[in-house]
Amino acid sequence: MSFRFLDLHHQRDDLRTDVLAGLAAHPKSIPPKYFYDESGCQLFEAICRQPEYTLTRTEHALMASRMPGIAAAIGAVDCVIEPGAGDCGKVRMLLDALRPSQLVVLDIAGRALAAAAEPLAHDYPALAVTAIGMDFIHDLEAALPYVSAGRRLIYYPGSSIGNFSPDEAAALLKRFHQLAGSSGQLLIGFDLKKDPEHLHRAYNDAAGMTAAFNLNLLFRLNRELDADFDPTLFRHYAFYNPWHSRIEMHLVSLAEQTVTVANQRVHFDLGETLHTENSCKFRCDEFSAIAGRAGWHLAGEWERDGFAVQLHGVGVNL
Ligand code: AVI
Repeated sequence: MSFRFLDLHHQRDDLRTDVLAGLAAHPKSIPPKYFYDESGCQLFEAICRQPEYTLTRTEHALMASRMPGIAAAIGAVDCVIEPGAGDCGKVRMLLDALRPSQLVVLDIAGRALAAAAEPLAHDYPALAVTAIGMDFIHDLEAALPYVSAGRRLIYYPGSSIGNFSPDEAAALLKRFHQLAGSSGQLLIGFDLKKDPEHLHRAYNDAAGMTAAFNLNLLFRLNRELDADFDPTLFRHYAFYNPWHSRIEMHLVSLAEQTVTVANQRVHFDLGETLHTENSCKFRCDEFSAIAGRAGWHLAGEWERDGFAVQLHGVGVNL
């Protein structure tokens, strides 16, 4: 078996810089990548099991039922690269179908990634597994030296692309295009526009897992940036914004209050929100247009129950 873990992540300084910049902005915001500390990763997995959050199960069902066609459309692949691989649960189906010789998984939560990726090396003895703890949104290009030559497939499932604005998504997909190389492909899953009531329930689950995931950010800032947020004075607030076709998640201040974060004082008005995440929903043609701006060409599309997976090949060289 072949497994290696590289930690290329310098988390503490980025967290401090990004959080202080986001808290000084109007409206206040914090990038959603900071949800994923150890508890955040566990809470996200719990969200995926909630009956109201159908996205993960629908994507799994789509992949399971359409895999022969998806694999045939992809063809032979040497290396699969999965940015934001998390618990590495989604990639197994692709490994079974494609049998690449190398898997490179990237995630900001490096320790959790290493623990999840190592069993893959046991289960697929012919596969060389490289797990890299990194903030790929910042440092994607740093993965390049660890990726083998040959045909590369970038796998970006779970509608993670929806957590970026369309412009940010196009910029990230362009960097994926450069990492994939001249014979590369992109297999990407994204959530489709649907009844806002369905979306509202998915991000306001009855068991309160999404609320706990959102509020966990404050616990993280208290621990890692010496902040003094009182999480009982903030409420999870998630709604569908039809003008931007996205779920917005916020933490609403339930009082006028001043909080200290990394020695800086931050004032919140009563009712003021801290914007923590966008989760954009697309139509298939809208999404392929975004990918097209990044130099990708649509090569296949599969859809099921409000979720879509698209395969893209390299169109033009950027
Ligand atoms: C990771 N990402 C695609 C999830 C989403 O649906 O936007 C994160 C999430 N936030 C709240 N629930 C799930």
